[in-house]
Amino acid sequence: MKRLLTLVAAVCCLLPSLKSYANDNTKNRLIINADQGRHIISRHLYGHFSEHLGHCIYGGVWVGEDSAIPTVRGIRKDVVEALRQIKIPNLRWPGGCFADTYHWMDGVGPRQRRPSIVNTNWGGITEDNHFGTHEFMDLCEQFGCEPYICGNVGSGTIREMQQWVEYLTFNGKSPMADLRRANGRDNPWSVRFWGVGNEAWGCGGNMRSEYYADVFRRFVTYLYDYEPNRLYKIASGPNDDSYAWTETLMREAGPYLNGLSLHYYTVDWANKGSATQFDEIGWFKVMKKTLFMKELIERHSTVMDRYDPGKRVGLVVDEWGTWYEVEPGTNPGFLYQQNTLRDAVVAGINLNIFNTHCERVRMANIAQMVNVLQAVILTQDEKMVLTPTYHVFDLYKVHQEATFLPIQFESADYSLNSDKIPAVSVSASQDARGRIHVTLCNLDPHQPNRVTAELRGTSVTRFSGRILTAREITAHNTFEMPNEVQPAKFDGARLTGSGFEVMLPSKSVVALELE
Ligand code: AHR
Repeated sequence: MKRLLTLVAAVCCLLPSLKSYANDNTKNRLIINADQGRHIISRHLYGHFSEHLGHCIYGGVWVGEDSAIPTVRGIRKDVVEALRQIKIPNLRWPGGCFADTYHWMDGVGPRQRRPSIVNTNWGGITEDNHFGTHEFMDLCEQFGCEPYICGNVGSGTIREMQQWVEYLTFNGKSPMADLRRANGRDNPWSVRFWGVGNEAWGCGGNMRSEYYADVFRRFVTYLYDYEPNRLYKIASGPNDDSYAWTETLMREAGPYLNGLSLHYYTVDWANKGSATQFDEIGWFKVMKKTLFMKELIERHSTVMDRYDPGKRVGLVVDEWGTWYEVEPGTNPGFLYQQNTLRDAVVAGINLNIFNTHCERVRMANIAQMVNVLQAVILTQDEKMVLTPTYHVFDLYKVHQEATFLPIQFESADYSLNSDKIPAVSVSASQDARGRIHVTLCNLDPHQPNRVTAELRGTSVTRFSGRILTAREITAHNTFEMPNEVQPAKFDGARLTGSGFEVMLPSKSVVALELE
């Protein structure tokens, strides 16, 4: 009897973990409505963010013309090449919080004469302003992407911002256009995306929404469209789930804005945790927090719909990504973190959510491009490594400017202890050549998930696939072992009469192309 009781107790102890392995594969039925696509997935959903923070700009992008690292006019060639490969569509700069302390005139003219400044937000370091407006515009031209400049509202003036727009975009004769010419650039640039401050509720001035709405209206009155340039003015939007902020901005300033930004990080502020040392609880927590992006977008969109049913105003998720403790031994103010397979799945989920809400979400920018937070690239002197997140952007770039295909999908659960989340995330699009692209993430770190898909309104005869996965949830690329997490050819799908069936390995991101 004692033996029997011990056995029963042992089985009971196992139950929670067995439960966490359970999986209902009768779900995961996907319907792709291939003849119902109406909205284009803007390429700008795949944008990036680069702040004067840690080694994002200095060291990550800019090493100067005298560097032994190969550059084009001081900008790293390897980084440019890697980002061109994933078709970077736009780049937000110079912040973040830094933007509301930045005075652009400090960053133009002969480099040796530019004043040094203290980066009060990020590590208190002194920087020499060698990377300024001309260098940023050069970087965007090398990338082949659109600039997205965030102006200084918090500690700047309307005049300063107005002059920056004039400096960049005015073709006629004026003090600022002449200054630009004197600094070596005859033709104006084209700059569409313009942020009017950053996080006005926090580091951008600690304003109340009513006050900022008026400040925004005042600033944009003086931001002119110098033909043929047309500004797309983006207001500092809510932090996470501050729906009241969105309400006030839409009500008080709606007609004056083109875009409203939203910042949401996958982070537990009370316990950020390590980027690389985590267990399944840490994996699950991050997946669950990431999925909250869907609710956020939908609820902010509901508020926006009330004031803008025609969806003229874009929701601009211009800061998203994971935020962990910095790597041991690095400057806490530099926000340098490693990037694992977990981050790759986070990126896949977020990008699927953005695609799915492309009718309202017109731009998104991962934080940040190089060496900061959920970076797609890490550098160390002359070395460069592509992170798992980079590879997700590579797999997903096919969605850029494709037509979003509405889907119906009910996912199986991924359960851990007493909690559960959907195990599979998916989105689909059709490109200009008629090819259908389906990107899927399996959030379950143990169980494969079979997805059975019905394609409505079209038929396909060929498919190919690529997958990103690894043996361990903590797998990552280092300077010593840069190819630990790499995309590979994927053979786990087959065509059926009505669509296709795919077996997603555990903890994976898969991209399928169907013709
Ligand atoms: O991306 C790091 C910081 O996070 C940005 O500077 C700020 O906008 C946000 O709070």
